Amino acid sequence: MNAAAQRIAWITGGGSGIGRALALRLARDGWSVAVSGRRRDMLEETIRLAGGKIHAWPLDVTDLAEVRQAVSRIEQQLGPIQLAVLNAGLGRFLKLDELHAEIFAEHVHVNYLGAVHGIDALLPAMRARHAGHIVITASLAGYRGLPGGAAYAPTKAALISLAESLRFALEPEGICISVCNPGFIKTPMTDENHFRMPFLMDVDAAAKRMYRGIRKHKFEIVFPLRLWLFARLGRCLPYSWYFRLLRGPRRRRRAPHE
Ligand SMILES: NC(=O)c1ccc[n+]([C@@H]2O[C@H](COP(=O)([O-])OP(=O)(O)OC[C@H]3O[C@@H](n4cnc5c(N)ncnc54)[C@H](OP(=O)(O)O)[C@@H]3O)[C@@H](O)[C@H]2O)c1
Repeated sequence: MNAAAQRIAWITGGGSGIGRALALRLARDGWSVAVSGRRRDMLEETIRLAGGKIHAWPLDVTDLAEVRQAVSRIEQQLGPIQLAVLNAGLGRFLKLDELHAEIFAEHVHVNYLGAVHGIDALLPAMRARHAGHIVITASLAGYRGLPGGAAYAPTKAALISLAESLRFALEPEGICISVCNPGFIKTPMTDENHFRMPFLMDVDAAAKRMYRGIRKHKFEIVFPLRLWLFARLGRCLPYSWYFRLLRGPRRRRRAPHE
């Protein structure tokens, strides 16, 4: 297959978890895939698992210059990126004692600005071609505030709003944008969680659902369906019901000014 006919994808966070599983799926389907992340050894392992066909571009998504340079080099060496999956992220569910400004900043820089840097780097060439598909990995955690989610959930809510807002500008340019909102998926990220994760999904099943959504150019890609239904319902509930549902019944403490 010549370079012009080859489908090129770029995935950030492709050295583990959802990004790796999606990279392997795309490679199996004949895509030429570039994977990015900070740890070269993890990217090399993705390549090994694919038996070639995948290329590693180590970078830190918080570094705009690095991201711009990587996109430009990928396009020079592999060809025009048709599909970019901005998936790099970190997520910790934290107790009140663990919350300080540095933790918030880290989540914003990696999860939100990391995706913004990818979009900035991709858009000039995609706009010139009037083609391309950008997928942002957000989360069902972005639907509403969650216990322990003060640092993580707002970044995912921001990504959902970013994708919704950009859609108005990108659609007339011929560029497709999607937001992927997974529930709990078994990856190194969720291996750190010490609470019950409802409807925890296998990472290969998640990648399969994600790729299906990408192929259909769906705006929102969600899985697992059962958790999405709960999250969707939770979004519509009045605050009093929502808070009670998530924390269970508890005696209300009076605020000092009451
Ligand atoms: N697992 C879930 O249940 C779940 C649910 C909803 C949404 N998500 C989202 O799915 C995405 C993938 O997460 P995952 O579950 O697959 O976890 P994961 O295995 O920990 O993957 C996160 C990836 O992001 C990369 N990354 C982190 N910081 C980076 C940085 N500064 N620059 C470049 N790459 C960076 C990591 O690679 P390096 O450390 O090598 O850089 C890693 O490969 C995240 O955005 C996450 O928020 C996950």
